[in-house]
Amino acid sequence: MHVKELECNAFQPLRTQLVVRIQLPYTRGLFRGSLTDRSQSVTKIKATNITWHEGHVSQEEREKLLNQKGALIWFTGLSGSGKSTIAYTLEHALVQRGHLSYVLDGDNIRHGLNKNLGFSADDRTENIRRIGEVGKLYVDTGVITLTAFISPYRADRQIARETVGDDRFFEVFCDTPLDVCEERDPKGLYKKARAGEIKGFTGIDDPYEAPEKPEMVIDTSKVSPQEAAVSLCEMLEKAGLIAGLGE
Ligand code: ADX
Repeated sequence: MHVKELECNAFQPLRTQLVVRIQLPYTRGLFRGSLTDRSQSVTKIKATNITWHEGHVSQEEREKLLNQKGALIWFTGLSGSGKSTIAYTLEHALVQRGHLSYVLDGDNIRHGLNKNLGFSADDRTENIRRIGEVGKLYVDTGVITLTAFISPYRADRQIARETVGDDRFFEVFCDTPLDVCEERDPKGLYKKARAGEIKGFTGIDDPYEAPEKPEMVIDTSKVSPQEAAVSLCEMLEKAGLIAGLGE
């Protein structure tokens, strides 16, 4: 059991909060280390002789400037489940409402920042760790940040949540059935995976761990991207991150 004292951000009524975290046994495949081991190995700082430098502008000041609060909407789900489509639709809707929003998309990020990562379990974990850290920086700038990554492992998504902070992290599960994703197959990858041309494809011969308590579940075989974007805007309004229309 870990007991940690965390600094709260300016929007919370209390400055400090006692968080008691119970680490449960890690139950995924035997081929991967325990959550404790993995979480320690990814969070350990390697460099020595480094000092944190505090700036002169606070997150609150940046958010005032933008008239919104920074948040990370974390889309997770199978390839072809609609994560990117909804994220880009929501980004568009938010910008049209006068809010600064930006999408970090799995396929795109793997062309640059994460171009040195493949699809092994460890590479996927590192992929998600980096996005959690980048997401934290974006949230600090005040931007409503939308991430679209399969992010198949529950423990990795939990680390991202803890990195960003629970009050600014919204997990959105694109719970589209595998057969629908496979039917869509926008990049022809399911066909290749079924033919054995791609090994370790999520949902086919690699695991996907569905969220247990996501902030929102969307089945894109039933809901349009526009309808999903409206629900997500309402969620942000309710959380006090953006003002309601007409306010
Ligand atoms: S994650 O698992 O590490 O979160 P990420 O979202 O960055 O994955 O990338 C997933 C995208 O990479 C898929 O939408 C698909 O286009 C492509 N891809 C290529 N190989 C695989 C694979 N083995 N498993 C899943 N997606 C793959």
